[in-house]
Amino acid sequence: MTTPMEPPSKPSLPPLLEVRGLSRSFGGIHAVEELSFDVAQDGIMGLIGPNGAGKTTVFNLITGAYRPTAGTICLRGIDLTKKRPHEIVRAGVSRTFQNIRLFNRMTCLENVMVPLLARGKSMLGTFFRTPFARGEEQRARETALAVMKDVGLADAAHRVASTLPYGLQRKLEIARALACGFSGQGPSVQGPSVQRPSAQGPRLLLLDEPAAGMNDAETRELGEVILKVQKDFGVTMMLIEHHIELVMDICTHVAVMDRGTLLAEGSPRDVRGDERVIAAYLGRPRARRELERT
Ligand SMILES: Nc1ncnc2c1ncn2[C@@H]1O[C@H](COP(=O)(O)OP(=O)(O)OP(=O)(O)O)[C@@H](O)[C@H]1O
Ligand SMILES: [Mg+2]
Repeated sequence: MTTPMEPPSKPSLPPLLEVRGLSRSFGGIHAVEELSFDVAQDGIMGLIGPNGAGKTTVFNLITGAYRPTAGTICLRGIDLTKKRPHEIVRAGVSRTFQNIRLFNRMTCLENVMVPLLARGKSMLGTFFRTPFARGEEQRARETALAVMKDVGLADAAHRVASTLPYGLQRKLEIARALACGFSGQGPSVQGPSVQRPSAQGPRLLLLDEPAAGMNDAETRELGEVILKVQKDFGVTMMLIEHHIELVMDICTHVAVMDRGTLLAEGSPRDVRGDERVIAAYLGRPRARRELERT
């Protein structure tokens, strides 16, 4: 007798990022304490919690800006814990900042080209404008333009960064963070968007309050850009946000921090209904107002 064939189960991918027992103190303040979580490949993980919960400190620890007091951080099995920031970028981690940090006097294009050229090998070549250096610059320009087009900034390429409205400055930060993950060769430009060659581009993109200061319409539009970037670049993301409706709309998994520790994690739906999370964060007036809009 033949038994009905079961559909082949999809093999589950190992987590992209594994954080274990992560701690960081500043004097007597335990900003992050014994924090453990995984970030699944190709997902968007929301990291939420009240002010001072330790969210930005987690990003600073992952990117090597701060050294942990204890614990480990592994990306695809590679221990990042003691690596320096530039090594962590090379391993595939890029970020944006809670407070926008752009080169204000440069054009948008130049802002995005900076990390691409910083990866170039030939300082002397750049100085003497050798054919190789000119080729490198041309490739960086093409890559930067392709990335900017993907986030909807193609028309702003030659504007000075400081003249952009706030929402576009946030997008420019995302474009620059994406460019950090590409070496000189860059993505190929095919059709309307960038096709990320499998060996290039950031693996993990950390977005620290990208919608801060945005109104509802701008926040929704930013959500669409984030989803597009995730699809086009195949990049895994972590998203810190106080715009809870954005987190609930686009995140595949949500972790909630409070006073340096992990209060809860799960699907957006699970987290939203969790009484501890409601008591510590979602029940507060600002978060409640946000939730009522969803
Ligand atoms: N460099 C530092 N020196 C001293 N204390 C710090 C430092 N960085 C963070 N902290 C403290 O660690 C705690 C967590 O700060 P963190 O910025 O990570 O919170 P957050 O969750 O990102 O808050 P917010 O939502 O307001 O951005 C706070 O008490 C903060 O004052
Ligand atoms: Mg913060």
